Amino acid sequence: MESLQDIIKEIMSCKKCDLHKTKTNYVPGVGNEKAEVVFVGEAPGRDEDLQGEPFVGAAGKLLTEMLASIGLRRGDVYITNVLKCRPPNNRDPTPEEVEKCGDYLVRQLDVIRPNVIVCLGRFAAQFIFNLFSLEFTTISRVKGKVYEVERWGKKVRIIAIYHPAAVLYRPQLREEYEKDFQKIGELCKKKQPTLFDYL
Ligand code: URA
Repeated sequence: MESLQDIIKEIMSCKKCDLHKTKTNYVPGVGNEKAEVVFVGEAPGRDEDLQGEPFVGAAGKLLTEMLASIGLRRGDVYITNVLKCRPPNNRDPTPEEVEKCGDYLVRQLDVIRPNVIVCLGRFAAQFIFNLFSLEFTTISRVKGKVYEVERWGKKVRIIAIYHPAAVLYRPQLREEYEKDFQKIGELCKKKQPTLFDYL
């Protein structure tokens, strides 16, 4: 089976779409290969493009703060995006870019096999819901609901929440956001049964 490093190595020389021509750095993902929870965003922004790491700008600062509020550090989880290169001027990803680049995310998930997948915003939610054959309507309708699917021989929980940039833009969403993170904290505590639980 391939490792996360194999996938990252491939991303670091990817030329599947034109975004590699305008990017500064590839932004493959960061965190723990054995993470129980994976956070998926849309695409790198300006700061991420400059630093080669996801969620390091203003939205990332809020994400890191929210993680800390449930006792998690960035290194405890895995953080990545649907696209690994920044779209010029942060324009929306095109369907072609999502199709080509999304394959890396699918493979990253297949290696990590997380118990919980958190979709940050509409783009990530659309991609992940589609991947797990869940119906996506709008982010405000699915937001905060926990979906349970079978994958990798176990139950996997999927939750979509607002993108942290949306919460920065609309501070009135902050309180609700904190509650959604509390829920994510609870999901992380719900341990998968292991063989030892049956002995
Ligand atoms: N927004 C995203 O969706 N991803 C990042 O990495 C940064 C901002």
